[in-house]
Amino acid sequence: MISSRTGATLGQQLEDQDMKKFFLMMPFILGSAAMAQEHDWGARFYAENCAGCHGETAKGDGVLADYLTVDVPDLTSLSAANDGVFPMLRVIQIIDGRSGLRTHEKPMPLYGAIFREDLQPPMGMPGASEPLVRGRVLSIAEYLQSIQE
Ligand code: HEC
Repeated sequence: MISSRTGATLGQQLEDQDMKKFFLMMPFILGSAAMAQEHDWGARFYAENCAGCHGETAKGDGVLADYLTVDVPDLTSLSAANDGVFPMLRVIQIIDGRSGLRTHEKPMPLYGAIFREDLQPPMGMPGASEPLVRGRVLSIAEYLQSIQE
């Protein structure tokens, strides 16, 4: 079949359609790759900062858990304990710790303050690292969301 406008054969038209589909899918393909990458960062920050207590699989069985006088919670059942909805805001605030939601005598460190120390802002730009601090906290929270059972 000849397309009057382009003179393309049916085969070519089909190929064009496949290409179109491919390009329509691109945002989804790239989007999920980007999401996977975000989770990679979250997973990395989790492994570096949290796995010691909460465990590599976040079940609350990290090597330090035995040395604490309080139980270290399983972080894979946060949604299950909240009517199936991941409590994103609460988790962010608990990780950050600076909101005062958690008290200082609890063993879990206040990561908002720790990351802020890590990410010293450039001279003369106080507060400039705050978006990075929040990004780290958010990437960990998103990682936790991705491993809910
Ligand atoms: C020194 C051990 C320790 C480390 C390190 C640690 N936690 Fe915790 N975490 C605890 C303990 C103990 C609790 C429960 C009591 C409390 O709130 O401090 C807890 C509570 C939590 C809760 C609340 C769970 C619930 O059921 O409400 C979340 C979420 C959490 N931690 C996430 C993290 C993340 C994410 C990291 C790393 C950025 C981390 N924790 C690092 C010991 C730790």
